[in-house]
Amino acid sequence: MPEQRDGVSAVTKVLIRDMTVSDLAEVTAIENESFSTPWSEASFLSELDNPGSVCLVALANGSLIGYVCASCIFDEGHILNLAVRPDCRRRGVGRMLVLTVLRRLREIGCKKVFLEVRTSNTAAIGLYESIGFRMLGLRRGYYHFPKEDAVVMVLNLQQTTLS
Ligand SMILES: CC(C)(COP(=O)(O)OP(=O)(O)OC[C@H]1O[C@@H](n2cnc3c(N)ncnc32)[C@H](O)[C@@H]1OP(=O)(O)O)[C@@H](O)C(=O)NCCC(=O)NCCS
Repeated sequence: MPEQRDGVSAVTKVLIRDMTVSDLAEVTAIENESFSTPWSEASFLSELDNPGSVCLVALANGSLIGYVCASCIFDEGHILNLAVRPDCRRRGVGRMLVLTVLRRLREIGCKKVFLEVRTSNTAAIGLYESIGFRMLGLRRGYYHFPKEDAVVMVLNLQQTTLS
């Protein structure tokens, strides 16, 4: 597949590494494009300062094209945030970020991973289901702007092959 303008093609090498403070301008730019109630830079900083959190970024051609933040308390993990730059979506980057963060959570002792996602977010639900997450229930009115229920999803890391 030929290179996309400003984007990432299926053949572009994508590198995943830990997020640092110097990534936050690019991270918050993607965050603001991706969510109606985006995290502030302070929210990302607080995750970077949290020893139980794992925050990763995806890079292609030297540009930051996506990120994921997750945390683990005792043996229970939570995916807190995930986004891919709009022009780089549907090329496997979200899947790569989620699989990498799940492997990291498993390494630090997580056994189950939970997440919430808007009921209308079929892209994210499709991604999580393709990895093995299953729907556990709904949290009514969990989101605002617009008000919407959350689907709660869970993955048993002990029974999942992360590939
Ligand atoms: C959700 C998101 C991170 C997915 O990232 P991505 O890089 O486009 O996802 P991938 O290319 O890795 O897709 C993996 C699988 O997820 C599913 N998927 C992804 N986007 C989809 C879409 N628009 N419609 C339906 N299924 C989709 C498919 O099963 C896909 O596999 P396939 O391409 O082989 O069919 C991206 O759409 C995004 O940043 N959205 C805005 C922020 C957001 O909603 N974050 C999640 C909050 S819980």
